[in-house]
Amino acid sequence: MLSKTMEKALNEQINAEFYSSYMYLSMSTYFDSVGLPGAAQWMQAQTQEEWFHGMKFFRYVNERGGRVALKAIKQPPTDWKSTLHVFQEVLSHEQKVTGLINNLVNLALDERDHATNIFLQWFVSEQVEEEANVGAVLDKLKLIGKDATALFTLDATLGQRVFTPPPPKGE
Ligand code: FEO
Repeated sequence: MLSKTMEKALNEQINAEFYSSYMYLSMSTYFDSVGLPGAAQWMQAQTQEEWFHGMKFFRYVNERGGRVALKAIKQPPTDWKSTLHVFQEVLSHEQKVTGLINNLVNLALDERDHATNIFLQWFVSEQVEEEANVGAVLDKLKLIGKDATALFTLDATLGQRVFTPPPPKGE
C-alpha cells in the first residue's frame, strides 16, 4: 500500500508526464508549420513515449492500491524562435523531469518504500537516455548553424524515429 505522501507525489508525476506529452505535441505541430515534417514526426514519437511514461505511473499507483486523481494539464507553449530553440527547451525540460524523478527516489528512500524505489529505477535510466538523445540532436543543430541543406538532411533522419513500447517484462 502506498503512503498518502507517495500517492500524492506519484499523482503529480502522472500529471508531469502527461504535460510532457502535450508539450511535445505542441512542438510537433510547430515543426509541421515551419516545413520540417521529420522533426514533427520525432516529436510525435516523443509524445507517445511520454504518454507511455504517464500510463506506467498510472498503472503502478493502481497496482499498489493507490488512487489516481487526474488533474488539469497546463497549456504548453505554442511558438519557438527556431529549431535550435525548441531542442534547447526539450533538453531543459528533460533535465527538470530528471530532477522530479530524483526527488521521487529520495521520497521513496525516506519512506523505506522499496517497491516504489525499484519501480523508479527504470525512470532513472530512462532519463539518462532521454537527455543523451536530445543532446545528440542539439550537437548536430549547433554544427548545422544556418545551413538549410544540412537542416533538411537532419530533418529526414529525425523523421525515421518511431516509438516502440518496451515489452511488459521490462516494466
Ligand atoms: Fe517522461 Fe521525457 O520523461
